[in-house]
Amino acid sequence: MRRGDFATPRGKIYLDGNSLGPLPSRAKEELLARLDEWEQRAVEGWDAWFDFAERLSPSLARLVGARDDEVIATGSITSNMHALLATFYRPQGPRRHLVATSLDFPSDLYALNSWAEREGAEVRLIPSRDGYTLHDDDVDAALAGDVALAWLPTVLYRSGQLLDVSRWTRVAHDRGLLIGWDAAHSAGSVPHAFHDDEVDFAVWCHYKYVNAGPGAPGGLFVHDRHFDRVPGLAGWWGHDKASQFEMAPTFRKARGAGAFQIGTPSILALGALKGALEAFDELGMTAIRGRSLELTAHLTRLVDEVLPEVRIVTPREAARRGGHVALAHPEAGALSLALRARGIVPDFREPDILRLAPVALYNDEADLERTVRVLRDLLDSGAHRDAVAASLVK
Ligand SMILES: Cc1ncc(COP(=O)(O)O)c(C=O)c1O
Repeated sequence: MRRGDFATPRGKIYLDGNSLGPLPSRAKEELLARLDEWEQRAVEGWDAWFDFAERLSPSLARLVGARDDEVIATGSITSNMHALLATFYRPQGPRRHLVATSLDFPSDLYALNSWAEREGAEVRLIPSRDGYTLHDDDVDAALAGDVALAWLPTVLYRSGQLLDVSRWTRVAHDRGLLIGWDAAHSAGSVPHAFHDDEVDFAVWCHYKYVNAGPGAPGGLFVHDRHFDRVPGLAGWWGHDKASQFEMAPTFRKARGAGAFQIGTPSILALGALKGALEAFDELGMTAIRGRSLELTAHLTRLVDEVLPEVRIVTPREAARRGGHVALAHPEAGALSLALRARGIVPDFREPDILRLAPVALYNDEADLERTVRVLRDLLDSGAHRDAVAASLVK
């Protein structure tokens, strides 16, 4: 795998792979191959496409530490959450509430709230003491009592804090709760062991660190001890494959996570995903995580040395940080715009976070050194304020 295998915008330093990964050449080839098949075979293409998602499962399973039939590429994070909540959120008696965090990505909260409202239950949010991270004691306190299901992010999308999936899954189970994970910011960046950790279910996307393209099909995991559960949102694509085309009026679910598919998948999008996954199959998550930790450590050192007025809100310990480094600064929005104008692509998250994601597959130390140098120049000259003024005038 070489940096040149990724089409980062020409001449730019791309540090936004935690939002949208750049196009891998293999993804483009596989997508074009699907277009050719469509052109040449039209409906007969389905002979080869029918179980396309299932054929990607071994690669997905390696990504998150699962068995092949525990994972499927389908839907989006939010639609997969709904499919899982419809199946597993069954409030009983007093044990009826949901737990999430005050730092969650909003779509997760919208999904959880829509289910809580149906059931007259609460979504209890684990508070943050500093506005960026979660304290273990607060997570521990929340996973208790009259809660039916907890929903946690593996990596917090703003600060990049990595939660201990194994520990909190065990705690939840000891207290009789089901637990689901949103692995949007860890899939393709941090290895997981969802099967061995006995995670109940999880979702993630493939458009960030996995580089499968804008709106790529998501990922869904259901532990095999739950394979007897019938999906709460059934559709014909989740039917047992061998008999799907018998068109029976009653739903006979597929074995495993495939049962959580609902409608016809986008074969073009699965094509891009197939190509994007090849890098992960080749390198493996252990090597990718090792390199990612080197890069985030290097960036942290540089920021400490060169930008002392900028606060790093990502936890310092390797075991508690994901794949990006979050810098808090009151002018983060203006700095982000000014970096982009200078050929460096970070991203900004309200209210004051500049996120920099040095990705193992295509970034290197020189990218980070240049980024920090440009940030130093901006802070010294104040030129980032001009960028904001110019953007307001337009
Ligand atoms: C942590 C997290 N959860 C959920 C979502 C929403 O994902 P989707 O649009 O695939 O439903 C995102 C999107 O970036 C995210 O970062």
